[in-house]
Amino acid sequence: RRTTVGIIGAGPAGLLLARLLHRSGIDCAVLESRERDYVEQRQRAGILEQGTVDVLRACGAGERMDREGMVHDGIELRYDGQVHRLDFPALTGGRRVMVYAQTEVVKDLIARQLDDGAPLLFGARATAVEGAHTTRPLIRYRHQGRAHTLNCDYVIGCDGSHGVSRQAVPESERRTYARGYPYSWLGVLADVPPSGDELVYAHSARGFALLSMRTPTVSRLYLQVPNGTDPADWPDDRIWDELQARTALDTPGKLARGPLTAKAVLPLHSSVTEPMRFGRLLLAGDAAHIVPPTGAKGLNLAVADVTVLARALAQAHRTGSTELLDAYSDTCLRRVWRAEHFSHFMTTTLHTAPDQSPFDTRLQLSQLDRIAASAHAAAELAENYTGLPLE
Ligand code: FAD
Ligand code: DHB
Repeated sequence: RRTTVGIIGAGPAGLLLARLLHRSGIDCAVLESRERDYVEQRQRAGILEQGTVDVLRACGAGERMDREGMVHDGIELRYDGQVHRLDFPALTGGRRVMVYAQTEVVKDLIARQLDDGAPLLFGARATAVEGAHTTRPLIRYRHQGRAHTLNCDYVIGCDGSHGVSRQAVPESERRTYARGYPYSWLGVLADVPPSGDELVYAHSARGFALLSMRTPTVSRLYLQVPNGTDPADWPDDRIWDELQARTALDTPGKLARGPLTAKAVLPLHSSVTEPMRFGRLLLAGDAAHIVPPTGAKGLNLAVADVTVLARALAQAHRTGSTELLDAYSDTCLRRVWRAEHFSHFMTTTLHTAPDQSPFDTRLQLSQLDRIAASAHAAAELAENYTGLPLE
């Protein structure tokens, strides 16, 4: 079997890249190890930057998003008994974000892809990428119990943080910069309307909490928990009590409670692999970099990578020039490191480390006060949160 661009992974990165290439008339195929149901149900991110919204619209996958997504003009910070709202359009010259779940983005992209008949194989696990430094790279994969080969002009690794594409590159050619965090998130979905109109990021002596949402009737809630936490140790009432304690103010009163329909613990990591291109193997999204979720950047970075990549592949296809492909890694890494810094900043400003000293806590509160007091400090947060330009 052969194709022009072989894509490993049908997460947001792989699926969107396939759409963008299809619209440029470039032949491609997507291999996804999991089944469709699994990929469509996997609970992950929920915040889309303006740039992400624009790309989804432009590739014809924005119709349901525009109907069902919720435009947000700000977030609320709660700390030390105070509330501070950040007004994004006022601070950024009009930028906003959209609340629309990654599960829905993925469903919309899969539906469009299957409509057009471009090959998207579920249950197809890539096992190796070979010949990255030749003009004929290939992907070895297993599908329905058999071994297959996909010959390509380019291979794109969109296979997430545990994929095989990064491993295909010898360690001497790549460098990974990484760090962990001494806490994880317990994330839940609740069948209850969100308690407010906007997301709440709460700093508290008991640890960080985040009140988010999926729809007008479904809340998405997160609590900082110790690494290694077993979700079974967190019965529903304990979760609600803790959310209440960490986000509570004298007003606006009690958090509305409802049945929890999903509960999972996720560890927090930062990591960047450089470069993002090895000959004709290119990495995009979580395959190349991970951010802790506090800045809501992971999905948006994946979308930005493949937007840059699709333009570069279109140029190579149309004109034979590899100028944009040659610049791909540097173009993306500048934005990636900015998002790494912002995600690290949000994480370490809002969480309480197990060994945190009272001095460190005073520094966090001073930083939060600065954001509340200064339009410049607030604008810095708002610009990063709503998303920086592509290049
Ligand atoms: P992925 O979505 O990981 O997609 C990779 C795909 O490749 C998967 O479908 C996988 O099955 C497939 N694959 C892997 N190996 C192979 C193989 N060998 N062969 C074929 N296919 C393969 N971000 C936020 O902003 N907020 C959040 O709350 C948030 N929560 C998260 C929770 C979890 C548990 C995780 C893991 C991530 C979370 N993120 C969050 C980050 C965000 O979801 C990711 O940044 C985003 O999914 C990146 O998209 P991607 O397409 O690069 O990778
Ligand atoms: C969501 C996740 C985040 O990491 C974040 O910063 C904001 C919202 C969410 O899943 O809704």
